[in-house]
Amino acid sequence: MERTFVMIKPDGVERGVIGEVISRIERKGLKIVAMKMMRISEELAQKHYAEHKEKPFFGALISYITSSPVVAMVVEGKNAIRVVRTIVGATNPAEANPGTIRGDFGMDVGRNIIHASDSPESAKREINLFFSPEEILDYERAIDKWIY
Ligand code: PPS
Repeated sequence: MERTFVMIKPDGVERGVIGEVISRIERKGLKIVAMKMMRISEELAQKHYAEHKEKPFFGALISYITSSPVVAMVVEGKNAIRVVRTIVGATNPAEANPGTIRGDFGMDVGRNIIHASDSPESAKREINLFFSPEEILDYERAIDKWIY
């Protein structure tokens, strides 16, 4: 099983679609193994988006992500990184397919509802940034034998 980092961003929280987003993740068959609502500090935001430091939108991205609470999660499943990216949709909501989270809810690239790790390396890095090992829970779900 693979793990990925998922975060409902400030616009997702402010628009009241936390439940809708979590529901889509669960409905697919993915398993949430850690979750918390939190306000991201300036320091954590800078670390999380470090690879975009030189981008022209970096300042806007940092002030947006720290502007309101987020819901951070670790999501587990077979090919979880790829599966989550598929249900999330393209980064720019204008290009995201209907049926995806960004395709159904977003309008603007700077307000695209959700973040999801794009590779095993970023998943590992991002999970470690947001969660301690004790916060990630190991449990069995009865439905898993029907999903796999
Ligand atoms: S890039 O340049 O292709 O590496 O960037 P991209 O992967 O498209 O986007 C990286 C994250 O930055 C967010 N983003 C923006 N935020 C604010 N304003 C603008 N203009 C903007 N453009 C991109 C984008 O939503 C990505 O966020 P995450 O959380 O990683 O999905």
